[in-house]
Amino acid sequence: MKTFVLTALFVTIAGLSGCDRSSQGFSLPQGNAELGEQVFVKYQCLSCHTMAGYETDTENLPGSMETPVALGGQVSRIRTYPELVTSVINPSHRLAEGYEAESDQSVMPSFNDVMTVTELVNLVYFLEDHYELEPYPRTDYVSPH
Ligand code: HEC
Repeated sequence: MKTFVLTALFVTIAGLSGCDRSSQGFSLPQGNAELGEQVFVKYQCLSCHTMAGYETDTENLPGSMETPVALGGQVSRIRTYPELVTSVINPSHRLAEGYEAESDQSVMPSFNDVMTVTELVNLVYFLEDHYELEPYPRTDYVSPH
């Protein structure tokens, strides 16, 4: 019974959100980027990250980090929704060069015991909005002529 209700909910959500996120492996309900911005500020992501249009609070930058990690902006490969979720709930899955702390743990704290799932969904919608694909990938090749 419960499974049935969940399935129905899932189908409804997938139908409502224009693009098919289930093809990316999992599907979360539609988020709200405006509320996500509040989550971004609430959990002080800006003490370790920069994002265009926001002021980084470098005073709180941990001693182990020399420079804040940029979020959003133009990237050569767009961050997918599951990648962004993973970055937040399991920051140690991939350590950025130059930010490796002792014991292969990310310096990024875990928010898993304090952040609600709704907050996470909204946060990821907010983050996703801030990534832009570079106009075109740079190709360096020498003309044969
Ligand atoms: C104490 C510092 C710190 C805080 C606070 C922090 N982060 Fe991070 N974050 C990092 C570091 C360092 C990395 C790079 C991965 C690594 O080496 O651990 C990272 C990586 C990320 C990435 C992956 C970036 C990419 O280009 O793939 C995302 C997304 C991210 N953080 C989001 C957040 C959000 C959202 C918050 C607030 C809820 C937050 N971070 C708070 C330090 C922090």
